[in-house]
Formats: sequence, structure tokens, C-alpha cells
Amino acid sequence: MARRMRAAIFSEYGGPEVVDVRDVPVPEPGPDEVRLKVEASSMNHLDLWVRRGLPIETPMPHIGGADIAGSVDAVGPGAEDVPLGVRVVVDPSLSYGWYDEDGRGPSFANEKLRLIGEHTQGGFAEYAIAPASNLLELPAGFEATDAAAAGLVFVTAWRGLITRGGLRTGERVLITGASGGVSTAAIQIAKAAGAKVYAVTSGPANVERVSELGADVVYDRKRVDFSREVWMDTSKRGVDLVFDAVGELIWPQCLKALAVGGRLVTYGATTGARGTTELRVVFWKQLSILGTTMGSPGEFRTVMRMVFDGRFTPIVQEVLPLAEARRAHERLEAGDVFGKLVLVP
Ligand SMILES: NC(=O)c1ccc[n+]([C@@H]2O[C@H](COP(=O)([O-])OP(=O)(O)OC[C@H]3O[C@@H](n4cnc5c(N)ncnc54)[C@H](OP(=O)(O)O)[C@@H]3O)[C@@H](O)[C@H]2O)c1
Repeated sequence: MARRMRAAIFSEYGGPEVVDVRDVPVPEPGPDEVRLKVEASSMNHLDLWVRRGLPIETPMPHIGGADIAGSVDAVGPGAEDVPLGVRVVVDPSLSYGWYDEDGRGPSFANEKLRLIGEHTQGGFAEYAIAPASNLLELPAGFEATDAAAAGLVFVTAWRGLITRGGLRTGERVLITGASGGVSTAAIQIAKAAGAKVYAVTSGPANVERVSELGADVVYDRKRVDFSREVWMDTSKRGVDLVFDAVGELIWPQCLKALAVGGRLVTYGATTGARGTTELRVVFWKQLSILGTTMGSPGEFRTVMRMVFDGRFTPIVQEVLPLAEARRAHERLEAGDVFGKLVLVP
């Protein structure tokens, strides 16, 4: 009989209640793939979209979890060079050909971007499958929970701020949704790049924690109109770059907060995808609106090495057992998380 494993799985789209922890067969690696014994897998907002049914190519029943760290347990044909037992973190982006490495953005001539845990079965399980080419070895003693918390959010923030946004020393950057997974990574990257960081979050406890992370000026979106505050705090100049995924609800304020010649880098639409754009603001201030998604293999390795070096710290709010996967969905959906939740089997 096939070996069985525990997995957080859903068979229909819906709210957190569709997530169940069940016994399923242990997967077998295919050509150029490995099987990992999962040590940790972190939650991303992506897992909420996938569970709600936003992408249409999710294999069902589905195991979420794009961010995986663990040890190689078996190798498929063509992946025999990967040593058994090696501890790794997985780059969540599939179809690497989607990226050029010149930093200009996706190569649309190539195949379309796919993600582990969205277009394939992910890491919320005892075992998971990943392409051998996506593995990055962990330094000895590096915590799997930190590695799994870092991958997707740091590569997204790195590409968005540095490659696409071209953030430079001395510039002013505004980071919205500052308590989120990507944003807690972005604050650290922006500070390391020598920028002055303005951040928007919710509630006094988050304001304090975002300041502790290194943000220079922090606004509570529940108390103030941050675009007005940014305007005043920059002597009516605005910021050079806004890094936003909150989307629709605050899109006009993000545009207003920009200085002449400013760049708005958008990487998500948490509150909706139809922001109203005041075109006069865009052309009069000569703004640039840039999209970004995930990152190339080179960007993943660059930023993860900085995480391994201790230059950046993944912000882990809590490590939960896999059995509490449904609660993890509920908590991330409620906005009750600072940084990341990590599940361990
Ligand atoms: N394009 C890509 O490659 C890519 C990669 C990663 C993520 N994303 C997208 O980016 C977004 C953030 O991802 P994540 O994993 O970092 O999410 P997350 O950890 O759930 O953080 C989202 C943050 O958004 C803020 N927020 C939520 N609801 C809000 C509301 N009604 N009004 C204002 N702010 C609100 C909250 O921050 P505060 O309470 O601090 O304001 C929250 O912490 C998601 O939409 C995700 O799908 C895209």
C-alpha cells in the first residue's frame, strides 16, 4: 500500500472552513524533481487567494504552501546529483524562463509564470515535491522556520524595490500594509539601501513594531490620512517611491504621496484591483507606475544569501503545528499577523 502523510488540504474553494488536515498518499518525484521531508512551510496572502479560488489552474484537491524548507528525502530521474538528506529552501517561482536576468522585467515571449503551492501541490504537508533547480542549500544550523518565512516575501520585496523600483541611497520610500509579510521584508531592504522609510500600518501596537523594524516615520492608517501626513512631513515634496500591495482602497492616496518624478511599484491588490487613477496627477507629476511579481533565480539567491548572513531577518510572528492550518488561514485573513505565520508538520 502507498505510504501516507498528513497534509492541510481543500477540495473546494471557500473560506478557511474548507481547509482540513487529512491523510493523503506521499507524492513521488518526477523527472528532475526531488521529494522533501518538510521541516517548515510559511503562509502567504497567496494561500488565501488560492483557497478562495482566484487562480483557475489550481490542482484539486489542493495542498497550499509556496514557501518550503526541509531535507531531500528522494530524487527523481535526472536529479540523482542532489544528495539525500541535504537541507534546502525552495525558490517558489516555477517557469524560470519567464524572467530575463537583465532586470528589465518578464520576458513575455517565454512561458507564463507558475508558482509552487498555486499551480502545483505545496508545502503544507509532511512531504512535498520541488524541481531540483529550485533548491538552495541552507547553511549549517539555519532554522527551517526562518528560511521558509523568508523566500517568497524577500524575493518579492527585493525585485520590487531594487530591480524594478531602482531605489537609491537617500531616497524617500513609502511602504504600505507595513505589518504584512512582504512589507516587513521591504522595510529592511529599503533601510539597507540607504533610503528614508515612511510606513503605513494599523493600530498602535503595529506602529511600535514597524518603528522597531527600522521605519523612520510610521502612520496609523486608522487614525490619519497618510497621504496628507507624508506631504506635510516631506515639506510638500512627497516620496520618491511607493511600494504597495494594499491596492484599491488606498491607490489614490499612494499617487498623491509621490513627489514629482516618483515611482509607484505595485505588487498586489489585497483590498481590490480597481484603484481610481487621477490621470492629471500622473502626467503633471511625471509619475511612473511599475508592476512587479516574484523574482528571478538570481534575485532569489542574492536576497536569500543576505538572509543567511543575518543582514535581513524574517519576521515570524508564530510557528504553528500543521494541524492548525485552518486557524492560520483565519488569522492571516483577519489581519491578525505581524510578519509571517509558519506551519510545521
Ligand atoms: N506580485 C507578487 O509577486 C506578490 C508577492 C507576494 C505578495 N503579493 C500580494 O501582496 C499582498 C501582500 O502579501 P503578504 O503575503 O505580504 O500579505 P499579508 O502578510 O497578509 O499582509 C497584508 C497587509 O496588508 C494590510 N491590509 C490588509 N487589509 C487591509 C485593508 N483593508 N486596508 C489597508 N491595509 C490592509 C495589512 O497591513 P497593516 O495592517 O500593517 O496596514 C496586512 O498586514 C497580497 O495581496 C499578495 O497576494 C504579491
